[in-house]
Amino acid sequence: MVSEPIIRFRDAAKVFPGGRRRPEVRAVDGVTLDIEAGEIFGVIGYSGAGKSTLVRLINALEKTTSGAVVVGGRDLTGLGESQLREVRAGIGMIFQQFNLLSSRTVAGNVAYPLEVARWAKAEREARVRELLEFVGIADKADVYPSQLSGGQKQRVGIARALATNPRILLADEATSALDPETTRDVLRLLQRVNRELGITVVIITHEMDVVRYACDRVAVMEHGRVVEVGDAYSVFSGPQAAVTQRFVGTSLRDRPSDETLARLRERHPARLVVVGIDEVTGSTRAISQVLRGEGVEPAVIYGGITEVADKPYGSLTFELTGPDDAVDAAVERLRAVTDVDDLGTAAHPRRAPSLAARGRDDAGPGPASLAPTTDRRPGGGPFGGPTGLTEGNL
Ligand SMILES: Nc1ncnc2c1ncn2[C@@H]1O[C@H](COP(=O)(O)OP(=O)(O)O)[C@@H](O)[C@H]1O
Ligand SMILES: [Mg+2]
Repeated sequence: MVSEPIIRFRDAAKVFPGGRRRPEVRAVDGVTLDIEAGEIFGVIGYSGAGKSTLVRLINALEKTTSGAVVVGGRDLTGLGESQLREVRAGIGMIFQQFNLLSSRTVAGNVAYPLEVARWAKAEREARVRELLEFVGIADKADVYPSQLSGGQKQRVGIARALATNPRILLADEATSALDPETTRDVLRLLQRVNRELGITVVIITHEMDVVRYACDRVAVMEHGRVVEVGDAYSVFSGPQAAVTQRFVGTSLRDRPSDETLARLRERHPARLVVVGIDEVTGSTRAISQVLRGEGVEPAVIYGGITEVADKPYGSLTFELTGPDDAVDAAVERLRAVTDVDDLGTAAHPRRAPSLAARGRDDAGPGPASLAPTTDRRPGGGPFGGPTGLTEGNL
């Protein structure tokens, strides 16, 4: 039996009314989206895209202006305050700024929702111990938040959010105040929350690396709308929307920019090709085999390979030296195994790489929508990111 999605948005909209000088804001603008029970779902978008408003619709901190949000089979639209409290009790939330009570110890913070829910003291204490064990800070029970690192604070936040056994955990930029290494620790903890406790996790972020590392599926938001949704690997390996292409281009700088390409051509005047590395090519082995033809000398001169959803992803730029017909034949053999972007030679350049322009934050949708669609490479960043194969160390 296929179970019903645990969270459903049906043409959901949230409009904040304007004032005398302010125009109204359509923070969430007609979102239809299903989040399945048991998945880690990412919502990615730049600041102001409407992500926080969207999650606040899930726990009814905001009410839809139109459309519906259905959580665990209950349409939130018509519910009264006491029924909404029941729904909220099944949803935990963590925040970028942790929102801990500074006057309470770690144990006191985690106990707080249990006090509100009127748990008996002995059960409360046992539950707090269990939660602090789970998040790995049992030794900090009697410490105050000000004495904790950011990562430890977020562990307290997670323990507190889990206290009353929610079915859903919402994480709104929960790692955005943390360094990359701590981010990864916290994301690993969220994966344990998902896998060991069976809790559906919704991760809101503006960082593609967070989605890449932790999420099964992802929705990309822009101007209050979901512009793209799918499993994380498909979305980032074949981004359709310009905003998704920007995330991808910014995250893995595996393709030479125009400036870099100009420099590369000075030292590598022969034929340059950008070769896609993905799930199908798997490793560079197939590519090496194909290139081992008559009279062609291949050299990697630029690139980056990373992982998206545990699968290899990126591109390598090769210089192929040899007689024209032999190089042409090698390029044809390459095309049979993977995406190839033929940049030509220094004397006869074909064209600049298309993705480089997408990688700049200020690039906007223009270059991306004009670019040919031979291949679209997603990518890395701080987490186990690009292999560091750039021209500097080759
Ligand atoms: N309470 C509010 N009143 C008026 N406008 C708001 C309110 N909350 C959010 N907005 C506006 O809605 C848009 C989306 O905001 P938000 O959901 O916080 O985006 P994100 O989390 O993606 O950065 C922004 O333009 C923001 O200024
Ligand atoms: Mg936000």
